[in-house]
Amino acid sequence: MSLKQVLNSVWNKSYRNGTCKFQEIVGRDDIKLILNKALLSVRPIHILLVGEPGCAKTLFLTEIMRRVKTSLFVVGSNTTKAGLVNQLFERRPKFVLIDELEKMNKTDQMSLLHLMETGIISEIKINKTRQIELASWVFATANSYEKIIQPLLSRFTILEMPEYNLEEFTEIALIRLAKVNVDKCITRVIAERVWNELGSRDIRDVIKVARLTDTIQDVPFVIKMLSRQNKRIGANG
Ligand SMILES: Nc1ncnc2c1ncn2[C@@H]1O[C@H](COP(=O)(O)OP(=O)(O)O)[C@@H](O)[C@H]1O
Ligand SMILES: [Mg+2]
Repeated sequence: MSLKQVLNSVWNKSYRNGTCKFQEIVGRDDIKLILNKALLSVRPIHILLVGEPGCAKTLFLTEIMRRVKTSLFVVGSNTTKAGLVNQLFERRPKFVLIDELEKMNKTDQMSLLHLMETGIISEIKINKTRQIELASWVFATANSYEKIIQPLLSRFTILEMPEYNLEEFTEIALIRLAKVNVDKCITRVIAERVWNELGSRDIRDVIKVARLTDTIQDVPFVIKMLSRQNKRIGANG
């Protein structure tokens, strides 16, 4: 058996027994395998998912949050309000899930770096100092590398998520909209027009159009309306 075959069988086994099957997510099998490998690892592994909006980054984190009890989900832009360090002290999570890491303030990024480097979380206040050891795995997402401090970036295994092609985009739209009973023909038309006319690669736009659509005849009108609106707010480029 070649090394590649051995690795594949180990990965398949860990994937089958994995704590998270990511059943809601269509495709992205390589990311599913690596995240399961990291979830089962005896030592911390830190993973950063990077990709354009709508490529399932948040979906990966929320599925882990639902399945893995020892996880803490935080949104990068919100950590100051909730107090990241405080939450880590209180919850002591094994898996720290951070959505939109690039929006996290620099102080919290430094605390996270310290945790990833030393396995220690500490807080120094005027009257008291507290410190605990915390072996945490950090899984984060980002739309871009900008605003993430370099030493933090270098602690992560970075997985870039490629954009979908039209075929994958349509397949995801069909599965997603079947759940809310949208007719397959309408879904195909919406997916194709969102892709070509809105130039969007975000399934959220397909969902938006579908919600405003009763019949196939409504689609061009709704697309035109969103297209005008996108131009005004400078979306999609
Ligand atoms: N591979 C996929 N499988 C299933 N749904 C997907 C997939 N990719 C995107 N979606 C849909 O697109 C929406 C946006 O995904 P999300 O994870 O929020 O994207 P991101 O965080 O990368 O911007 C999700 O709610 C989901 O409906
Ligand atoms: Mg997201």
